[in-house]
Amino acid sequence: MESAAQWIDLSGKVAHVTGGGKGIGEAIATALAMAGAKVMVSDINVASAQSVADAIGGEAMALDVTDRTAVDAAMADTVIRLGSLDILVNNAGVYLGFGGPVREITDAMWRTLWSVNVDGLFYCCRAAADIMIKADNGGRIINISSTQARTPGVGVTYDGSKAAVEQITKALALELAQYKINVNAIAPGPTWVNEGPAPETTGAPPNRTGDPLADTVADRIARLPVGRWADPIEQGKAAVFLASELSDFVTGCYLPVDGGWLVL
Ligand SMILES: NC(=O)c1ccc[n+]([C@@H]2O[C@H](COP(=O)([O-])OP(=O)(O)OC[C@H]3O[C@@H](n4cnc5c(N)ncnc54)[C@H](O)[C@@H]3O)[C@@H](O)[C@H]2O)c1
Repeated sequence: MESAAQWIDLSGKVAHVTGGGKGIGEAIATALAMAGAKVMVSDINVASAQSVADAIGGEAMALDVTDRTAVDAAMADTVIRLGSLDILVNNAGVYLGFGGPVREITDAMWRTLWSVNVDGLFYCCRAAADIMIKADNGGRIINISSTQARTPGVGVTYDGSKAAVEQITKALALELAQYKINVNAIAPGPTWVNEGPAPETTGAPPNRTGDPLADTVADRIARLPVGRWADPIEQGKAAVFLASELSDFVTGCYLPVDGGWLVL
């Protein structure tokens, strides 16, 4: 009998992880490397990307995903430096400082967030799809959405952008299936990406502020069924699933890795 371990073996595969210098992106890059993939870690902060690449035996490059010309060059450069592009993880995203009531959202806040979370993701999908279709060897595109795509709470800017990511994922899955390119989204729930231990969740009463946005999120975290924040590597494990043979027949899915957030 063959081993199921072969199903997660990514040896010979090349992955590009955007925003891979920190947090969930770092964990996804690490998990893909642990499964055997060669990983290109890109980030707007090239020093952090290099540090992650050094730790996982991958390669690094500077990339601001909002720069469409740079995105095209980065995807092409991944092939030049690592031999192919089999897995793209669109992780780069911003949220801090862009939330709040709609009347306080400036044009600049709206445009800046959407330029990273949606425009940048689109540029990367387009460039990678072109390379994968020409290579005629299938591929995987994994987009990092959020539970906020379905349960708003951060604000119209972020919540809307992550819902767009979910629908972009489905549209691309439909279009690219003919090329054996699976396109899926991971929807992380609260994932602790800051220094130090994650704060308590279960039992901590929401700090009610009267702001429905903040209170909704605080309430959900306090009632999270698993009773804790996710460790970023738990998002990495989901990425390995979606990058590997384990998910050959999975495309167009929105995979919550959320500790039960969406059942609340
Ligand atoms: N942490 C969570 O609880 C959570 C929950 C749901 C979804 N997400 C999503 O997961 C993804 C990663 O979040 P995180 O919490 O790890 O964030 P983070 O802020 O810890 O890390 C984000 C990384 O992206 C990089 N980045 C930012 N703008 C960029 C740009 N224009 N081009 C390239 N890189 C850029 C940053 O330099 C950083 O290294 C985001 O898409 C976020 O929306 C996070």
